[in-house]
Formats: sequence, structure tokens, C-alpha cells
Amino acid sequence: MYVMIVIMLPSPKVILSGVKPSGRPHIGNYFGAMKQFVDRQSDYRSFIMIADLHALTSVTDAVALRQNTFDLAIDYLAIGLDPARVTIFRQSDVSAHAELAWIFNCLTTMPYLARAHAFKDAEAKNREVNVGVFTYPLLMAADILLYDTDLVPVGQDQKQHVEITRDTAEKFNRLFGEVFKLPEAMILEEVKTVIGLDGQKMSKSYRNTIPLFAEERELRQLVMSIKTDSKGETEPKNPEECNVFALHRLFSTAVLPELKRRYVEGMIGYRESKEILFDSMNRFLLPLRAKRAEIASQEREVEAMLERGANAAREIASAKLAKIRELVGFDV
Ligand code: TRP
Repeated sequence: MYVMIVIMLPSPKVILSGVKPSGRPHIGNYFGAMKQFVDRQSDYRSFIMIADLHALTSVTDAVALRQNTFDLAIDYLAIGLDPARVTIFRQSDVSAHAELAWIFNCLTTMPYLARAHAFKDAEAKNREVNVGVFTYPLLMAADILLYDTDLVPVGQDQKQHVEITRDTAEKFNRLFGEVFKLPEAMILEEVKTVIGLDGQKMSKSYRNTIPLFAEERELRQLVMSIKTDSKGETEPKNPEECNVFALHRLFSTAVLPELKRRYVEGMIGYRESKEILFDSMNRFLLPLRAKRAEIASQEREVEAMLERGANAAREIASAKLAKIRELVGFDV
């Protein structure tokens, strides 16, 4: 007699995240978010997007957008995302995102969105803010909610967007029926903010970034330009107040206690500290650059991977969208 044993494995939790292809990713993007995508890929069902719809809020050059988009796909593979495990796709390949974002536009009030940091910052800088920037968080909510996402690995700056996503999901569930799962942000405490060249948060909009795939010369030049105070070589220095040291924490972990001691005892100048930082960063980036160059030479494979990703994402997103369309009263 045969006895059939059915083991119910809990289905793995879903992760969704993405990066905007609006320029070269920098080490702030990497430590804040991208590294987590790689570290978590074996334990979760992951969807990693190239958020080209979002990039359109700032990039209005088709050639640049297409190039950035493809480059980011290569970057994802170069940092170690495994397409056999992770669904990597272009947001614009899955039209359900834009459609759901419209539905969310219709149930969100203007004053609510006007409280979003990203919008307020853009306004404060007196930039001409397009409507896409204003409703940006709702497109992001659509990205996340279409896949029944549990966790959203992001940098600290995206925390509010995940809160808006939860609010939006709750509001929809209340008005039309329970269809959305409430996601949570996944933020690494120890790298809440990666400091840029000038000591502010590293960000493209501050022009203080170190690109993740910077070539050796560029990297050296950038590291040497990190802002410090004017303490002389033999003066004691406070590592906690040093922008160079802040980056040592990420790249020079093996010699960190030694560096700290030399700072405090006035046994190291900023120049030497920067040389050491350049060495450790360069050692870290060497294999990443090599892998990137190899992948960049396989354009067809990258394109095929994006197509497979789009198909897999589309299947899930359109099934979800069908339920949503029914709930709001569209034809099914
Ligand atoms: N707004 C994110 C950023 O600028 C990118 C992004 C778009 C995203 N859609 C997302 C992140 C969905 C997480 C989930 O970094």
C-alpha cells in the first residue's frame, strides 16, 4: 500500500525592488539597495525592475534612456544577480504598472501626495515639477502591489514611498475589496546613508557620487577629491567626523581598528588615508568591473534575459490586474 505524503511548504516571501535608469549607479545605490537584492536572492522570490517609467520623469532623451536601461541590466548581472533565480525586467515592458498607477491616481488626494518628501524637495529647489514627479509614489505603489510583495529592499530615502504604498493598498482594499497585501520596507540599519564626496548624502542630484563601476583613474581622482577639514598630518583626528573614514567603514573593514587608532593618535594624514581608501575600493571594484566587461560583450543574451523577465512578470501582473479591473468595474 502506498501512502502519499503531501508536504506543504510555505511559499517563499516575495521581494520587489528596482533602480531608476537615470545615470550610472553609484556606491550609495549599491550599499543602500542593490547589494541587498543579491544577498537575498536565494531566500526569496525576487522581482528586480529597471524602473524606466520612473526615469522618464527626468530623462527626456530616448537614446540616453535606452542606453541607461540596457546598462542597468548589465550592472544587475555584474553585481551578481542570477537570472535563473530572479526575475529581472524593464518596467515599461509590463503595461499593467501604468494602468494600475492610473487607478491609484483616482483614489489619492492631491494634499496627501503633496506631503511626499521627494516632491517637496523638487518644489523647494524651484524646479519645474512635472506631474510624473508628483504621482511618482503611486507608480511605485503599483510596481510593488502587482506582485503581492512582502518586502521591498530599498535605501532609507525610499521609506516614505513604501509607506504611501501601504496607505494606498489599504485605501483600495477598503473601497473596492481586499486584493492587496501590505508590503514592508527592508532597510539596512548600518548603511542608512552612504556619504558622498562632500559629506552630504551620496546622491546624483548633489553631484557627489562615486560610480559603482568607476574606472581606476576616475576612482582615484574622485577619492582624492573627498572633502576633509584642514588638520595636518600629525594632528589627532576624529574618525566619526571624517568623510574618508565613513567610506573606510564600507571598504576597509579589515584594517578599520588600525585606521581608527592612527586617526585618534594623529598618526595619519588625510592624503594617506585617501590612498588607502582608493586601494581598498579598487580591490573591491576590480572583479566587478571585469565581470561587467564580460557581460557587456554578450548583448544578445542580456536582451534575451530581459525578454524572459518581461514574460514572467507580465504573467503575474496581468492576473493580478484582471482582479483589480473587476473590482473597480471595468469589463473583464
Ligand atoms: N523610486 C526608487 C528609487 O528611486 C526606484 C523604484 C521604482 C522602486 N519602483 C520601485 C524601488 C519599486 C522599490 C520598489 O530608488
